[in-house]
This record gives sequence, C-alpha cells and structure tokens, in this order.
Amino acid sequence: MKKHVVLYKTLSAPLMARLKAHAEVTLIEDVKGTGLAQFKAALPQAHGLLGASLKLDATLLDLAPKLEAIASVSVGVDNYDIDYLHRRGIVLTNTPDVLTQTTADTGFALIMATARRVVELANLVRNGQWTQNLGAAHFGTDVHGKTLGIIGMGRIGEALAQRGHFGFGMPIIYHSHSAKPAVESRFGAGYRSLEALLQEADFVCLTLPLTAQTEGLIGAREFALMRRESIFINIARGKVVDEQALIEALQKGQIRAAGLDVFEREPIAPDSPLLKMDNVVATPHMGSATHETREAMARCAVDNLISALAGETPTNRVEG
Ligand code: DGY
Repeated sequence: MKKHVVLYKTLSAPLMARLKAHAEVTLIEDVKGTGLAQFKAALPQAHGLLGASLKLDATLLDLAPKLEAIASVSVGVDNYDIDYLHRRGIVLTNTPDVLTQTTADTGFALIMATARRVVELANLVRNGQWTQNLGAAHFGTDVHGKTLGIIGMGRIGEALAQRGHFGFGMPIIYHSHSAKPAVESRFGAGYRSLEALLQEADFVCLTLPLTAQTEGLIGAREFALMRRESIFINIARGKVVDEQALIEALQKGQIRAAGLDVFEREPIAPDSPLLKMDNVVATPHMGSATHETREAMARCAVDNLISALAGETPTNRVEG
C-alpha cells in the first residue's frame, strides 16, 4: 500500500506525477490561511510532509502520529524543532546546493543595488525627475575593489566570495564558526573575529543560518562597530538581526545603506520605517526565487521524501 503524503506546496506537473507514482498525495493550498484547517485534518494520515515556509512545531506535529519524514523545500531548517523530530524519529531533509548560486546572485544584486543606488535612481527616472545630469547628491559608491565581509562561510558565503573575488576584484574577509583553509587559498580570504570584520568591511553580508546561537547576533553594538560608509546586506534570516537596532543605525547614519531580502516578520509590515528609507533596498525573500532553482529545489525535496519513505537514508538528511 502506498504511503500518504500531505503536500503544502504546489508542484509542477512532472514532479506531482513522480510523487504520485510513489505515494497517495493530499494537496493543501494556502496552508497559512484558508487551508490550515484542512492541513490539520490531513495530518493524522500523513506519513510524509512536503512544503516550505510553515512553522511545524509540536502543536501541529502531535496531530501526525504516523509521520516518518518531512521534506522541506528550503535549505534553512529554522521552521523545525530538530530535537522534537529526533525524539520522534522523524527524518527531516532540506535542499542545499541547488539554490547556492541563485541565492548568491541575489546577494550580489543587493550589493550592486545599494552601492549604486539602482532602485532609488530608477524611481527618479520613472517619476519624471531626471531633468539634469546627476550631481554628487545622487552618486553611489564603487563595488569593485572594496572589501567584502561575509559572516557565515557556508556554500552561499563561498559563492558570494567567488563573485566578489573573481568578478569584482574585492578583498574577501569572513567570519565563521571555524576557519576555512580552502576558501582562504581559493579567494585569498582572511578570517576575522566578528568585531574585526564589522570594523573593516565595506560590505557586511550575512549568509549564516538562523539557530539559537545566531538569533539576534547583529544588534546595536555590532552596528556601532561598522563604518559610516559600510553597507549591510542580509540574505540569511531576519531574526539574525535586531531589526529595531538596524532601523536606528540607518536613521543615525551609522551605516550607509542596507540591502535586505529577509526580515524579522515576513511579509514585512507595510508601515515599517525600513520601507521609507531611500538607502534601503528591500526584496521579498526572493533569494532562490527563479524558475529553474525553485523547480530544482522541489525536485530535490520530492526525491528526498521518496527515498526517506522507502526507508533509505536520503542524501539531504538534516543531522542535528
Ligand atoms: C531557504 O531555502 O532556506 C530560503 O531562504 C527559502 O526559505
């Protein structure tokens, strides 16, 4: 008999067919809204779950006594209580690798957009305010040759370093839980303490996961260490940063600009002060959001789930 999968993310037709060849599938749409009651009603039958962007805590998972595996369509696993899953013997998988390059592209888009004021100046043109040659009040700052500081030197950090080093001739400095000799020799990167990186980097880019250790890592003290000319980029998770402290640092001119793809609360409140600042480029958690990459992530999650439900060890099993 086929196992039962509750899917809370829409799949392309080929992936849906692949999953259905291995499992009975219940698709829940709008799981955070109108579909939540239907999701809860389906949990008691579920052997597998596949989806993303939903906090799956004990309150929900206690409703799923048969659950064997969860395939998250994400690399980040901050929506899951890993200890709880271990206690219950539920396998969790994620989708690393397939999104690395695309997410690094997003990071670099934010670097370029903030440094060269792309959104602000494009809006000026759109609004019919381009009436004379640009003067210094609208100049940006160079990206090439500036120091790129990366906090969290995992796969995405490395892909960002690659772009900065080979594409833009940027000296690379990084902070991570351990030194990475391979990264140092490939990109000439230098390991720094968090404080030294904040003081030295022209661009401070966050690419580290959200964990109990990294939550609130960057707050008022850290922004105060950054230089007035430095630009802050977050493509990791909003909660790694004290958002109020970021707002105050921008208001006080402690940093030059911020490029933010992630926020404490998502979607961000429309009245957030961040959205009123010309020197903030805010994007809607779009790090991996290309057709190719989202399909590759979904394919990876489907394969992970099929493998886990077959009793195999899936390639992307998340270890605690
Ligand atoms: C990820 O894969 O973790 C992205 O941030 C989407 O949540």
